[in-house]
Amino acid sequence: MKIAEKVRNIFPAERDIPKEARIAPLEQRDYLVDGKIRVWRGQVREVLSPVSLRGKKGLKRAHLGSYPLMTEKEALEALDSAVKAYDEGKGLWPTLGVEARAAHMEEFVYRMKEKRAEVVNLLMWEIGKSLEDSQKEFDRTVEYIVDTIGALKDLDRASSRLCMTQGVIAQVKRAPLGVALCMGPYNYPLNETLTTLIPAILMGNTVVFKPPKYGVLLHRPLLEAFRDSFPKGVVNTLYGEGKKIIGPLMKTGKVDVLAFIGSSKVADILKKQHPRPHRLRCVLGLDAKNAGIILPDADIDLAVSESLTGALSYNGQRCTALKILFVHRSVQNEFIEKLVTAIEEMKLGMPWEPEVKITPLPEDDKIPYLAAVTADALKHGAKVINESGGLVNGNFVYPAVVYPVNKKMRLWREEQFGPVIPVTPFDDIKEPLNYVVDSNFGQQVSVFGRDMDKIAAMIDTLVNQVCRVNINSQCQRGPDIFPFTGRKDSAEGTLSVSDALRVFSIRTLLAAKDSDANKKLIREILRNRKSKFLSTDFIL
Ligand code: G3H
Repeated sequence: MKIAEKVRNIFPAERDIPKEARIAPLEQRDYLVDGKIRVWRGQVREVLSPVSLRGKKGLKRAHLGSYPLMTEKEALEALDSAVKAYDEGKGLWPTLGVEARAAHMEEFVYRMKEKRAEVVNLLMWEIGKSLEDSQKEFDRTVEYIVDTIGALKDLDRASSRLCMTQGVIAQVKRAPLGVALCMGPYNYPLNETLTTLIPAILMGNTVVFKPPKYGVLLHRPLLEAFRDSFPKGVVNTLYGEGKKIIGPLMKTGKVDVLAFIGSSKVADILKKQHPRPHRLRCVLGLDAKNAGIILPDADIDLAVSESLTGALSYNGQRCTALKILFVHRSVQNEFIEKLVTAIEEMKLGMPWEPEVKITPLPEDDKIPYLAAVTADALKHGAKVINESGGLVNGNFVYPAVVYPVNKKMRLWREEQFGPVIPVTPFDDIKEPLNYVVDSNFGQQVSVFGRDMDKIAAMIDTLVNQVCRVNINSQCQRGPDIFPFTGRKDSAEGTLSVSDALRVFSIRTLLAAKDSDANKKLIREILRNRKSKFLSTDFIL
């Protein structure tokens, strides 16, 4: 079947959906505040799937349900609940020992696992992520939580001793920061919300979290687990329009940590709204335009397969996606030919179909945006070089390879975050290196080649421009024990299983002059277990 025909027939009729992937609408009317699941009686927002269904009257977006459109009043109530639970650091949660906090989290993860099928199905339908990738997102998140609990215990073990130096006895530990506002992105709505939320809670902070614009309902099955696993006020949920409800929270000055994965533009607005920005700790995952650089001696088959997954996994909607490819002119014909063939072999379809790679996009405005940046490239001399590249049906966009992309084009500098692959030929290695140096972004880069001297020289240049240089492999965040961060407009703070515990806490210490009286006092506090902080208990 021709690609155009496949795209034309991409959407199924309701009866074609396999039984296990069918979904009943979820009209969510509840939210979690102050340890209670409250019923919402105000306005709601309808949730439509990126998947359309074929009916007698043509295509219609699948209705998935609705969620509360909370107002400033409820947002402030949620914040107050977190502030009350933290209670200036005197609350039950921030003063609870590490072992007890870990036990609460173990309870949560146990309850979360029971909801796997429901969450995975909602992930597929709400954001169009394939079944395989949705399952991966869920399992990776569970693994991340389990590893984070382990890392927390390790951190506590490492600080379970006193040290004596220059006549001072001390115990150094990490303490919470206060109230964290956590907001993840739509492309990893579960994983990238929980990879900030979980470490924030584990370190003793209390949180308010708002799901992203797309990928809201999939958090509903976890509401009871959040309510039952933690003391009241530790986790509070917010639903609604970010523009209306987040600004008022920031303006109160009561948010101590902003954990946000999204655009640098929005992050800047939020930071400026805080009345005392120096009191705000920011943990930000922002824009990126990672380049792939294919050198003349690269293994072209490998470079093509890594570039393909790098550029098109989840339709290119990953912050770590390869968003521009620089190909040495001597190998461009072979590379492009093989890339185009590999795209033609990718399976298009609905998220539940086995081995599907290209699926519909959740953001409605992404469809005209991708058409606009492609048209801009054509205006400046590029071409779409693959059959049916950029073809649209509803929210489905067939991947486009745009070549040759140059400086004048929007695709050169804008993060397309979708299935468009800009390809640029180069003669001199300085061209892609200058691109990376001049870029506003500084997350990662991929270099494909075999020459030891050339690769080594590139590594030494690139490590001071980005935060991960990938050799003969695509850019990616994982494994999650590795630091994930970026320079310039790409990030603030570092995330990884252990780094996240650090960014959501601050080092604080107990110190006393080495006198007999102080030694006696410290010994008595330890022996009688009077303090949770000053303690040499070792978690086994
Ligand atoms: O969207 C950005 C994600 O952090 C990327 O994670 O590289 O594991 O897909 P990933």
